[in-house]
Amino acid sequence: MKIGIVGAGKIGGLIGTLWSRSGHDVMFASRHPESLSELVEAAGGAATTGTPDQAIAFGDVILLSIPFKELPAFGPANHLALERKVVLDTSNPTLSRDGALAEEVLGSGRGTGAYLREWLPGVRVVRAFNTVWDKVLANEAHRVEPRVGIPLASDDDEALQIASALVVDAGFDPVIVGALDRSREFDRGTEVYDTGMTGSAIREALGLSRDGPSGMSEKQQIRVSDEVQITEAARAGNTPEAADIEEPIVSYFKALNSGNLEAVLQLYTQDPVMLPFMLPTVVGTDAVRRNYENTFHTIRFNMHTTIEELVQMSPEWAFVRTDSAGIFTPIRTGQGTPSTFHELFLLQKESDGKWRIARYSFSPTAKLPDL
Ligand SMILES: NC(=O)c1ccc[n+]([C@@H]2O[C@H](COP(=O)([O-])OP(=O)(O)OC[C@H]3O[C@@H](n4cnc5c(N)ncnc54)[C@H](OP(=O)(O)O)[C@@H]3O)[C@@H](O)[C@H]2O)c1
Repeated sequence: MKIGIVGAGKIGGLIGTLWSRSGHDVMFASRHPESLSELVEAAGGAATTGTPDQAIAFGDVILLSIPFKELPAFGPANHLALERKVVLDTSNPTLSRDGALAEEVLGSGRGTGAYLREWLPGVRVVRAFNTVWDKVLANEAHRVEPRVGIPLASDDDEALQIASALVVDAGFDPVIVGALDRSREFDRGTEVYDTGMTGSAIREALGLSRDGPSGMSEKQQIRVSDEVQITEAARAGNTPEAADIEEPIVSYFKALNSGNLEAVLQLYTQDPVMLPFMLPTVVGTDAVRRNYENTFHTIRFNMHTTIEELVQMSPEWAFVRTDSAGIFTPIRTGQGTPSTFHELFLLQKESDGKWRIARYSFSPTAKLPDL
């Protein structure tokens, strides 16, 4: 995913580095980008630097990590450029740094989210990464389970799913708390603030069920590749062949994200059938090829996928159900839009012993941008 880091200080620099190391394209921004050369070198991967304006234009997702007192001016100056982008905000009102503004916000009882909504109208704001000290995050990223929890709040469910996937990629446990106003439950001064609590401990403290308020993302997930993770429940239903069934699904999303036509086609059986969204059924290898040629000419995908169910029904048939969240970019406009899909794969074991996709159906869970 293309991520712009606006405020590449202690938190922004660290989270951006974790994302760059996990394979995301990161641009670190500073009002003095030349000061970031050491950070970019340490981040490795494809990380680059730019000004805040450049990082906002670059990122499909923005991590906004600047002092709280800067936000009343930063928001109105940038909300149009940030419109429809997913913006993860880490800021905390701090009396010693943010003075009267911090006093007002902390005293209001409204929570930081309510203020961000006013300062950043039309922006898909997610409160994220505000509760844990940067040194704890640096030491604990990707530790063995249970991981440090990162509470998330947003008015936008898709943005929450994307933020959740990015928290996993940074090496932590996402805890979806609810709408943006609920960020007050994990603002400075709350029970879960600055504790380094695990995800489960935060859920318990905030009275959240494991399935979270919107029934998503709070399931324990195991990372399988850069693109794919699997829920513990899907793994628990293991058959001896589960790993072989999982393999073409993992390869499929890798090939889809890289627009690799031949790699996609290899994953289908001899007589594949696709049921694309709002289009006629696509039958046979040639038609499937044409369908993907057309898709890869018109759309770029950058999806994170969760395998929700993996069931072997017989020695030769299995199904896999997945949910994907990420960025959908029509090539004509180049405008990436956060999007979510659900997919169902019917797999068949062919005579060479390999599991391949025999039937495939998918649809977006909300309206997509025009192609
Ligand atoms: N440090 C922590 O442990 C921690 C933990 C959770 C949350 N937070 C919160 O996260 C935010 C960042 O904290 P931090 O500790 O990372 O601070 P920091 O090290 O001081 O970094 C803040 C960055 O914001 C940039 N910046 C300042 N004003 C800006 C503006 N008007 N426009 C664009 N960029 C601006 C600065 O970059 P340039 O000067 O290079 O442009 C600076 O590198 C704060 O709101 C803080 O409360 C911090």
